[in-house]
Amino acid sequence: MQTAEIQRWLAARREQGLYRQEQQVQTLPGGLLRCHGELFVNFSGNDYLGLAEAAPLRQALADAARTDGLASTGSPLITGYQPAHAELSAALCDWLGVEDVLLFSSGFAANQAMLSALQGPDDLLLLDKYCHASMQDLLTSGQRVFKRYPHQDLTALAALLQRSAASNQSVVVATEGVFSMDGDVTDCAALLALLTPDRPLLLDDAHGIGVLGPEGRGSWAAHGVQVSALQCLMANFGKALAGQGGFLAGSRDVIDFIRQQSRHYIYSTALSPALCRAMQTSVLLCRTEQWRRDQLADNIGLFRQLARQAGLGISASTTAIQPVLCTDNASAMGWSAALKQAGIWLHAIRPPTVPQARLRISLSASHSELQIRQLVQALVQTQPATAQHRTTTIPENCRE
Ligand SMILES: Cc1ncc(COP(=O)(O)O)c(C=O)c1O
Repeated sequence: MQTAEIQRWLAARREQGLYRQEQQVQTLPGGLLRCHGELFVNFSGNDYLGLAEAAPLRQALADAARTDGLASTGSPLITGYQPAHAELSAALCDWLGVEDVLLFSSGFAANQAMLSALQGPDDLLLLDKYCHASMQDLLTSGQRVFKRYPHQDLTALAALLQRSAASNQSVVVATEGVFSMDGDVTDCAALLALLTPDRPLLLDDAHGIGVLGPEGRGSWAAHGVQVSALQCLMANFGKALAGQGGFLAGSRDVIDFIRQQSRHYIYSTALSPALCRAMQTSVLLCRTEQWRRDQLADNIGLFRQLARQAGLGISASTTAIQPVLCTDNASAMGWSAALKQAGIWLHAIRPPTVPQARLRISLSASHSELQIRQLVQALVQTQPATAQHRTTTIPENCRE
């Protein structure tokens, strides 16, 4: 592409209010964030359990930097798989009750590896329309047969399954445990009731891991589902587990198949050993510190109660992700800017990431009652006149 064309594209992007830019911020303990010397309460992070500020986790990373080092020095099948990787994998297997896991440098890579390997050449992929970009992106390659079913619409999914059975079409289904922009939870038990072992389910539980189910095993566990009912589980370390990277979990054979196939695994530098050690500590804290999930649940309950009392339009989500929909991009951006004036950091999420602009409130166990009261009060005081009180969203195709 010519540079002049790139410049025109960027200018148009700015005009449409769709220009994206990093903001340099420093996240601080106590649900806070500093930007250009000013302090804000942070309602845009994904540190659901408050582990990002946990002293034992930081200590584990510092210790491991000395004992295991920063660099894995290679891809996992060359020199990159070290004791730290093996022990983190064993800890994940023990926690989730799976036979094997594969570690990836990001959840994005893990999702791409999962779908690339497990959608066979003749399989039809059925995907919830709201699934994350890391799953949607593969579909545009033109090499895959897929259908997106309306968000969480199990009746529509059942109809697609019936049609594919009638035409002897093999099928793989993929969805998210907790949807990243709406916060709604998939009823895994109900979804699995539509499937048979020859029609496997692939689950992205990036926003469910650590937060839902016994010991925070995830959204599937919260619905009483056995992990063996999923063909493959994807989750990441970048949200409740307060680190970075992702993993795939499943039976020995399924994971071994992905190991043999996945270019994302074979041709990429393995995770830092120090990070793996830290993530082992994170898993341990997550399993044993139930108070973090209890505190998060209290914070979600308090926010919803105050928001309802204040007449704010909130969705039905009962998770840490609480979207507030806006009429358009400008109103979302204006609301977010006004909230900053009130000391609240709450990012506006706009199309094409979501079908409708919104403020995506992300609650954490590290928020105090006072901070949540401050959030609701500020939302009410800065609400644009055009703010929309809707509780549902419009289907789209590209989620963050
Ligand atoms: C649902 C979902 N899946 C996958 C990812 C990608 O994970 P990572 O950030 O570890 O690459 C994200 C993160 O934004 C996500 O929200």
